Order: sequence, then structure tokens, then C-alpha cells
Amino acid sequence: MHVLVVGSGAREHALLLALRRDPEVDALTVAPGNAGTAALADQYELDVTSGEAVIALARRIGADLVVIGPEVPLVLGVADAVRAAGIACFGPTRDAARIEGSKSFAKDVMTAAGVRTAGSEIVDNPARLDAALDRFGPAGGEPAWVVKDDGLAAGKGVVVTADRDAARAHAASLLEAGHPVLLESFLDGPEVSLFCVVDGETVVPLLPAQDFKRVGDGDSGPNTGGMGAYTPLPWLPDEMTSRIVDEVVKPVAAELVNRGCPFSGLLYAGLAITSSGPAVVEFNCRFGDPETQAVLALLESPLGQLLRATATGELAGQPPLQWRDGAAVTVVVAAENYPGRPRVGDVIHGAEPGSEHGGSVLHAGTARRDDGAVVSSGGRVLSVVGVGADLAAARDAAYRRIESIRLPGSHFRTDIGLAAAEGRISL
Ligand code: GLY
Repeated sequence: MHVLVVGSGAREHALLLALRRDPEVDALTVAPGNAGTAALADQYELDVTSGEAVIALARRIGADLVVIGPEVPLVLGVADAVRAAGIACFGPTRDAARIEGSKSFAKDVMTAAGVRTAGSEIVDNPARLDAALDRFGPAGGEPAWVVKDDGLAAGKGVVVTADRDAARAHAASLLEAGHPVLLESFLDGPEVSLFCVVDGETVVPLLPAQDFKRVGDGDSGPNTGGMGAYTPLPWLPDEMTSRIVDEVVKPVAAELVNRGCPFSGLLYAGLAITSSGPAVVEFNCRFGDPETQAVLALLESPLGQLLRATATGELAGQPPLQWRDGAAVTVVVAAENYPGRPRVGDVIHGAEPGSEHGGSVLHAGTARRDDGAVVSSGGRVLSVVGVGADLAAARDAAYRRIESIRLPGSHFRTDIGLAAAEGRISL
């Protein structure tokens, strides 16, 4: 099987590594990729938002399966175009991808499916903003305001704050840019990312993970696309994963079938485990980043066969997934000033993808300069993945590997998975 992976992040790097372990995958191409993925697959320039360009590349290389990593092409309908061209594609249709592309659509689906989620209100009229803010956050008796961009914002459209002025300023800037704003109730409780491979009403969960969205240790500073993750979650009983599948993911998958837009691909449920049970924070229509880098590090089942079976409507016939024992931790190394405008163009030393001390380096915002040097080219530059017998050992592997990386001005969180490793998370 020749697989074309579309995307350029550490998530795509992780997908390539896992696909390479599948004995039925005999050729790998990535587009546009990055400096690290070039060592694993043939690499081509690509406008990932153009269905025509993806089809042309898939035909040129003879791809049997196209795997679309990021949300933007999915929301734009690139998977529809690839399938219409007769090429198997892992990724939902444009209509199904609205579960991520439009928060109001996702809320509507969850309400119809009877799935618990935060109470919310869409504001598209600046004149109504102040009254709406008064119904949420501390003004409404909650610890904080949750203000989100209704559309895609790479994780950075969300502000959670107890400061009314900050909440108002974020909402006003979104409205000024013509983006409707979603105000949400604050969901209390530890967060879980549960990725499920979904084909219509067939739902296969992967290992639950937790990601770290704030830029700084102790969950300080602004939200980012994700600064780290770990899996599995020692504090989450297996029954809770089954409950999330039965009470959240299956009803949503069934509701999408009812609406004539069945989901095929990776449905990512972001949840808070509240005192009344799991409640949805968000859905995404693709593998999450950086959780994928940790989750796929523990996957033993052949990923190419799993994704192909999903793309061809045969997921229900797949054997149960097999996982390696132990734990995995991803720590993101970010460029100076990220999540603001990142400093780019710096030479990176010590980022060879090969693993050392049980830790390996996946590339995201990296590029190869004409003289051969690897340079930073984005906000989240590298994902360092540690694997170990338990969370403490996996953390140790990741942080030891980071010590040999040199990137001027870069920063990373030092507490990824720490509270869980120290037994400080409980339900
Ligand atoms: N981990 C957050 C995301 O992938 O959106």
C-alpha cells in the first residue's frame, strides 16, 4: 500500500512513523512535510487546501490511500474531492467536518444527541455582547468566562479568564474581524482527549490522553495549539473511557448519520470529567496535536490497515487494537514568542529524529536551508516523545532528550504529565 500523508506537523511525522511499522505499507509520501519527515518519506510541495492539487499528487505517485492530517483541508472538502476521484481517503467529508469547523453546528448535534456539554450562547452582534457576558463567567456565578471563536482558530481562539475586561476584549476583537463568538459555561474537572476512529456508527477508541494547552508551567499564560501530552491516564478508570464512547461518541456518530453526514475518519472528543460525568469541551475532526505523537508511540496494531479499513467502510471487521505497555509523553519545543508571532529562521542543533535514551524527536515547524542546516519555521518547532515503563520513566526519557536540543529563545513546559505521575489527579 502506498500512503500519501497530507500535512506538515509533528502529528504527520508521528503518523508516518506508525505507518512505516505496518508491513502492508510499502511506500510513503508526505506533502508538504518538514525537515524531519523528509527522512521517512518522499516529500513534495503541496497546497493542502486544494482538492485538485491533492488528487494530482495522489495520481502522480500512485497513492492507494490519502490520509489528511490538518483540519483546514477537511473543513474545505478536500476529502470529498479525493474520494470523488476514486482514491481511498482517511478523513471526513466537509459536511461531517463541521463538527470542528463550526462550534454552533457541534452544539446543535450534541443537543440533538443528548450529549452533555457546556451551556453556550453565540453572539454575532456587538450590541448584545455585554448582556451576554453578564450571563456567563463570574457575573453568572462561574469561576471564569470561556470565549471562543465559532470557527477554526488553531486552538488559539479560546480565552478562559476571570477578568471581564480580557474576556470582553477577546470577544470584541473576534466580532470586529467578523467572527461570531461562542460564550460557554466553564466546565470544571480534569480534561481528557479521546480519539476514536469512526466509520458511520462504528467507533473504535484509541488510548485516552491529556494535553496541555496553556503555554507555561502550572497552566499559566495564554492558550496555544498544545504544549505537550501524555498517555494513558493512570487516574482515568477504563469504565470512564467506555462511558465516553457510549454516552458521547456513539450518540454523536449516530446523530451525524441521521443528518445524512456520516463521519469517517478520526473523531476527537475533548472532554472535562466533571463531578456529574464526562462533558464535551470540543470535538475535532482529525488527529490531535500533540496527543497523537504520544498515542501512536504506543500503538502496536498496523496503522495503515486501520486507516484503510476506515476509508473503505470496513472498520467494523478490524481486530481489536493492540497497545504496547507503559506510557508515552510528548513535550513541545516552541519558538521564542510563541503563541505570539514566533521567531523563525534559527538553526536547530540536536534535533536528529533518531531516538536517544528512549526519547525521539519529531519535527513540526522546521525546514531545510539551502546549506543543509535545519532551521525553525513555525511556532511549535519540535515534539520530543519519551516512552517508558510508566509515566515517570516516559517523562524522564523526553526531558533527557530535550537537553541535547539547542534552539535560541525556545521554550517548553517542564510539567507535562507531572501531576499525574505524582498521583495528584483524581476524579
Ligand atoms: N490538542 C489540541 C488539538 O489538537 O486541537
